[in-house]
Amino acid sequence: MNILAIETSCDETSVAMLKAKGGLKNPSFDVLSNIVLSQVKLHAEWGGVVPNLAKREHQANLIPVLKKALEKSGFYNEKQKMKNEKLQPEILNSVLEREPELLEQFLKFIPTIKPPRIDAIAVTIGPGLEPALWVGINFAKALSLVWNKPMVAVNHMEGHIVASLLKEKMKMKNEKVGFPAIALLVSGGHTELALIKNWGDYKIIGETRDDAVGECFDKCARMLGLPYPGGPQIARQAENYKKYPLTFRMGGWTRREMEKEAFNLKLPRPMIDSKDYDFSFSGLKTAVLYMLKDMKERHVNIGDFTPMICNEIQQSAVDVLVLKTIKAAKEFGAKSIILGGGVAANKELRAQIKKAVAREFAKTTALYLPSTKLTTDNAAMIGAAGYLHATNGDFAKPEKMAAKGNLLL
Ligand code: KG4
Ligand code: ZN
Repeated sequence: MNILAIETSCDETSVAMLKAKGGLKNPSFDVLSNIVLSQVKLHAEWGGVVPNLAKREHQANLIPVLKKALEKSGFYNEKQKMKNEKLQPEILNSVLEREPELLEQFLKFIPTIKPPRIDAIAVTIGPGLEPALWVGINFAKALSLVWNKPMVAVNHMEGHIVASLLKEKMKMKNEKVGFPAIALLVSGGHTELALIKNWGDYKIIGETRDDAVGECFDKCARMLGLPYPGGPQIARQAENYKKYPLTFRMGGWTRREMEKEAFNLKLPRPMIDSKDYDFSFSGLKTAVLYMLKDMKERHVNIGDFTPMICNEIQQSAVDVLVLKTIKAAKEFGAKSIILGGGVAANKELRAQIKKAVAREFAKTTALYLPSTKLTTDNAAMIGAAGYLHATNGDFAKPEKMAAKGNLLL
């Protein structure tokens, strides 16, 4: 099955082409192309993602990104143009009514190429920013209409789960994931533990009661004067900190003095002892706020301590995430543990969960980590999740497709 996939839930415009086979029992994927255009630099100026700016950028970029995805996968064919009567401009006008710039590019580009040999168009319908999601959905509807191909509605978080089955290097990965599986999904909007009995059968067993872990990193970074997105900044500072020898001097302090004498920079591990699988990260953010306030009152140069504070913020989050994931895997007898979402790029989280799985489960439980490149939002993961639906005959009716900002797994 050939799947064209579209992802526009947040600040990445992405189109991918996948070849998939094996059905639900043994799915495997060949990522032929996975073009991701990040808007992160644009949003960084505003300190976070601006929904209407994201919408505008998706509109402007979907056609160029589609063109690249088709070219790279060998599905681009301009020798044989589309027949004009198939274009149905009146219907297209209403499908892309709210995306005039996209409509203009669509009408210019699509008739110049031969409809690609695809079996389905997969698109993210949520969770995410609704203005951004709508652009991708309407684009998918328009393509489905002119190419006469069925559509598949994909939950973005299911995409993050399935990302661990894909390989960056565009090769087929034929892997039987053992069920039940526990997935730890960590991103800017989500922190949840899901129990997976089979593909398509997901149950959230725990989630954050307030901030998502990525959101917490982003907010803490902002308090420390670090740019958006804060997660990678905190990770980088923490990594530097670990490299310093104990006698290394930052400002007036050696690392040893900082740790032992200077301040109590220990942060809480929120809800680490709770009996459930829920999380809470707003307390961590507040603790950082008070810590910084206290340091300011004592006229301490916070810049000197930033790497150390970042290390502590990161470790606090990693401690809670790893412990609860292992606990859930034990309780549910998980044969697999899957990590997904933007924060799954965090090197310490990856290293420490790897260590914990090796220590706690020896050979009974496999750990699936997505390649770092596929932790960020991308359409390949949406195509892979879309295949799991398509192979089951689970197609979406275009008129019923709508953006669902808070869609649950
Ligand atoms: O999944 P994602 O790309 O978008 C959402 O759906 O939210 O996740 C973005 C989040 C941001 O909060 C970002 O700070 C965080 O993932 N992030 C990281 C790292 N890379 C991205 N957090 C910690 N360490 C990283 N290396
Ligand atoms: Zn995401």
